[in-house]
Amino acid sequence: MTVASVFSGKNIVVGITGSIAAFKVAGWVSDLAKEESLVSVVMTESAKKFVTPLTFSALSGREVFSAMFDQTSGSSMAHIDLGREADLLVIAPATANTIAKLSAGLADDLLSTAVLAARCNVIIFPAMNSRMYAHPATQANILKLRNLGYMVVEPDCGTMACKEEGAGRLVEWDVAKEYLASALSIQDLKKERIVVTAGPTREAIDPARFLSNRSSGKMGFALARCARRRGAEVVLISGPSSIEPPLGVKVIKVDSAQEMCDATLEEAAHSSIVVKAAAVADYRPTTFSSQKVKKENIESNLTLAKNPDILYLLGQQKRAGQILVGFAAESQNLLAEGGKKLDKKNLDLIAVNDISSSQAGFEVDTNQVVLLDKKGHKKLPLTTKHHTADLILNKIIELREL
Ligand code: PMT
Repeated sequence: MTVASVFSGKNIVVGITGSIAAFKVAGWVSDLAKEESLVSVVMTESAKKFVTPLTFSALSGREVFSAMFDQTSGSSMAHIDLGREADLLVIAPATANTIAKLSAGLADDLLSTAVLAARCNVIIFPAMNSRMYAHPATQANILKLRNLGYMVVEPDCGTMACKEEGAGRLVEWDVAKEYLASALSIQDLKKERIVVTAGPTREAIDPARFLSNRSSGKMGFALARCARRRGAEVVLISGPSSIEPPLGVKVIKVDSAQEMCDATLEEAAHSSIVVKAAAVADYRPTTFSSQKVKKENIESNLTLAKNPDILYLLGQQKRAGQILVGFAAESQNLLAEGGKKLDKKNLDLIAVNDISSSQAGFEVDTNQVVLLDKKGHKKLPLTTKHHTADLILNKIIELREL
């Protein structure tokens, strides 16, 4: 199932300058092209010493620009058109020289001219020897760029091509991609602090065994990632999960329902939105055995005690203006069951997913939810959990504006 991503159809200018890290950006361009972005690569003369324009035109499927007055290019005003038509302008890797030129407003080549003519966000990813990066002149130029409104992303620390250690290595693409996604997303959650719970809980029986469920965390992680991209401050409280949590969010790892309860009530007390996508166990073993229980004794040992209903408690302590969103994992009577929870737990919205469907609910990459609020309900399409998350966040913003 392909669903338009935040990158689809967007004009992204990628400026490449003369650093060995230029070869890494080939992978960036390839991924952006796969995301159906319209990538226009602009190379400085020194960049071409590291990677050929042919590489980038093959990866982007589009013309690569270089010389300011290159008559071969389709547009004699490339330096203006590129900047004017771009939805986002990225410079990666950005050398100390390019950073210095841009901070001085110089426009002596196609890239620096396109930056000056740009109306869109500009994100700069420095990459250079660590001593060059730490040099006061470079740091002053970076400060000046930030004051001019450009985003400059701190490079990674580590061993560089010159075998020296320190800050100066081009950030990894998964980190850079989140900066681009945020820059391309409408920042409609800027003022919100959102707590998202995700994943299963584990209710320990003994050191070897526990009660749990099939939640992977994907739905909650998608909500956290989308909220972050849309400008929210995000706290993700997650049970055990094998998938990578999204970047740029505060992650609190928990195991049991009680731990999730304590963390969620604590974080919710100073958050404007709470979204409970976690699959919290309703029961735990009455006692935890510190020794592994012999299998012949399991049955007599395994009695259950009720866990706190976190969502109900959140509903009880909900502050004026706070938006509380629950999920419901149902296999029948979705509207009736969802409606009961909406009322009983004092929710503003509930997302009911039909876990009997092989393409919705636990573990799969897709979901199909019915959104229920006090005024009615809306059946969302079967789509990716990422898109479902965006649609739920859209509904939350609608509720915020009521
Ligand atoms: O993580 P994935 O693999 O992507 O799967 C996603 C999901 C199916 C887990 C998710 O979409 C979902 O439906 N999460 C809620 C699952 C669940 O616990 O539903 P429920 O009907 O049992 O609980 C209803 C609500 O009460 C949920 O918001 C739950 O977080 C909350 N709850 C439940 C029990 C409890 N003791 N405390 C709670 O807060």
